[in-house]
Amino acid sequence: MSKNPIGIFDSGMGGVSVLAEATRFLPYENFIYIGDTAFAPYGVKPTSLILNRSLLISEKLIGEGCKAILIACNTASSVAAKYLRSKYSLPIIAMEPALKPAYFLSSGKTVLVLATNITLKLEKFKLLMKKYGANAEPIPCPDLVMYVENLNFDKTQVKTYLNNIFNNYNLDSIGAVVLGCTHFIFVKNLIREILPENIEILDGNVGTVKELHRRLSKKNILNTEKVAPYISLISTSNATAEKIKLEKMFKAAFDNEDYFVLENM
Ligand code: DGL
Repeated sequence: MSKNPIGIFDSGMGGVSVLAEATRFLPYENFIYIGDTAFAPYGVKPTSLILNRSLLISEKLIGEGCKAILIACNTASSVAAKYLRSKYSLPIIAMEPALKPAYFLSSGKTVLVLATNITLKLEKFKLLMKKYGANAEPIPCPDLVMYVENLNFDKTQVKTYLNNIFNNYNLDSIGAVVLGCTHFIFVKNLIREILPENIEILDGNVGTVKELHRRLSKKNILNTEKVAPYISLISTSNATAEKIKLEKMFKAAFDNEDYFVLENM
């Protein structure tokens, strides 16, 4: 057993949705969350920058004693997971768009995959498409990332953006929509309001957190001591506005806001 924290990172706000899921599933674990707010969004940036940032953040998390790292970002997972795994021996858990379950659930109907430009462009997704993408339509949604990153949840604006996407399709032909970016979880309810109930909306959060649990359990490093955990939130931007945003996102995602410390990196 190990009381050491689990490190989680994302370009900014999106990974907070994964952190929230992780605390529900692993209620006794300690967490350090780094939102790379100084460099968000990742999805339209050069892969060399995303790789360097992922490396720097991982070094910081390992320096803080993390026993595992969860990359709560599909984009950084596509760019950096392989490299980080080759460099470090601790468990590194990555995300990928939930195309596989969508393929099996959509019974031949179209699967829309909403993600960042980088996620959809790289090899990891191409391989996924080869296996499960026969009916899939990848859709890059950089503006949707920015709505969430800026905490702009104005229903009319976000729904107009989403409707502009979905209006290109006959909804009867859609079987599932995959949220292939952790930021999009925060607008899942708006997507649900637009789409008919029979269209599945899938994300990778629960699957990824289950994988985290499996990996910790296999290594015998789950924290079995039933005490209140701590969660540290770290924003890489020193700007007060960014820190306040991260804090707000955290409060929005959690029922319990008793335990957190906001630090700098
Ligand atoms: N949340 C991220 C993802 O899952 C990155 C979004 C971005 O920074 O562009 O892909």
